[in-house]
Amino acid sequence: MINLFDQHVLGGTLSLKNRIVMAPMTRTRTSDGDIPNSLMATYYGQRAGAGLIVAEATDVAPSSKGYAMTPGIYTEAQRQGWRLVTDEVHRRGGTIFLQIWHVGRMAHQSMMPNGEAPWGVTEERAQHSDVFAHGPDGKLSFIRAGAPRRLETEEVSALAGTFAQAFANARHAGFDGVEIHAANGYLFDQFMNSILNTRGDRYGGGSAEDRARFLLEVVDAAVREFGPGRVGVRLAPFGTFNSMPADPKTEETLLYVAGELGRRGAAYMHLVYELMPSGNMESAEFRQQHVDHAVLARVRATFPGAIIWCGGFSSRASAEAALDTKLVDLIAFGRPYIGNPDLAERLKHGWPLADADRATYYTRRGEAGYTDFAPYPADGAERAAA
Ligand SMILES: Cc1cc2nc3c(=O)[nH]c(=O)nc-3n(C[C@H](O)[C@H](O)[C@H](O)COP(=O)(O)O)c2cc1C
Repeated sequence: MINLFDQHVLGGTLSLKNRIVMAPMTRTRTSDGDIPNSLMATYYGQRAGAGLIVAEATDVAPSSKGYAMTPGIYTEAQRQGWRLVTDEVHRRGGTIFLQIWHVGRMAHQSMMPNGEAPWGVTEERAQHSDVFAHGPDGKLSFIRAGAPRRLETEEVSALAGTFAQAFANARHAGFDGVEIHAANGYLFDQFMNSILNTRGDRYGGGSAEDRARFLLEVVDAAVREFGPGRVGVRLAPFGTFNSMPADPKTEETLLYVAGELGRRGAAYMHLVYELMPSGNMESAEFRQQHVDHAVLARVRATFPGAIIWCGGFSSRASAEAALDTKLVDLIAFGRPYIGNPDLAERLKHGWPLADADRATYYTRRGEAGYTDFAPYPADGAERAAA
């Protein structure tokens, strides 16, 4: 039986105090300019009991702005803001990676620099999915993603360079590593999907090699900055969130990427395993989305680094049962971390978990529903009831 509270050495160098990962979660609490702040430092510091925190999806550039109030990592002020966060997490004994993304077509011209069209692998629009942007009345709301413009070949290469700069900024902001967000229908996922990616250049077409080239160029840039043991990739194979078409080549692409990440010595693959959000972020509904265990076993056989599973875990027993399959090394918790800053302690001692109000997931309402959850032992009433 594998113990959730055993240490784990990640990527050959990072010693994690347990096998619990805090999943990346957009919380829209930035200051103007998409700048991380001391409130965010408090939030992440409170959750430093996780073996690894993966901080929320962070924009690589202004063209990645699909949702208002998500943080960036491309200005000096943003870098300094993130430094508050990493200092606080480290002061409290935690380890923290930054998740970096480009949303691609999951954007709207009202949020794009100079009102340009969102950037797409092709001109195919995400017909049924929303982003958080300015509606016709100028107010922020959930509206349909805009019609994208197909990126030119040279623009894709240049974007890999933009990621390289973001990785340098992340390292200077004090992050222990980076996670590349290649899941959930955002730009890398768009490139990897064989139905959506009908490009004829070296970033598209029939072969997994071409469809994964953009991701792997970016992984190479991350490895150059951080070293391989501090680079992870998040994937959601078989996910259909954000209008992703079902792709008969998913497994082929997944195994190709697993092999290439293994060759590069990447620290981990982070698989969104069981639950995927459906509909828009506002409703934040989740539905079942299984990745077949046989597929996972093939990934395991191909990729020598760590595998993180995420989705639907809310108890020590379910997490340890997953570890016992030997298919994975670490378990990520998303929603349970919102209301339980001391989740690791609660799981360890079998203390009950608090529920967070969904209405506070993505708001500008500061600490309400964000940093105002008490750690369990500090809550006398709850302890007495237990
Ligand atoms: C409020 C919220 C924000 C999220 N933001 C992100 C994000 O920034 N990046 C990402 O890869 N997934 C994001 N997700 C998905 C979670 O990381 C996770 O995959 C999902 O919540 C399922 O895990 P859970 O059942 O433990 O919550 C978000 C989920 C929630 C609830």
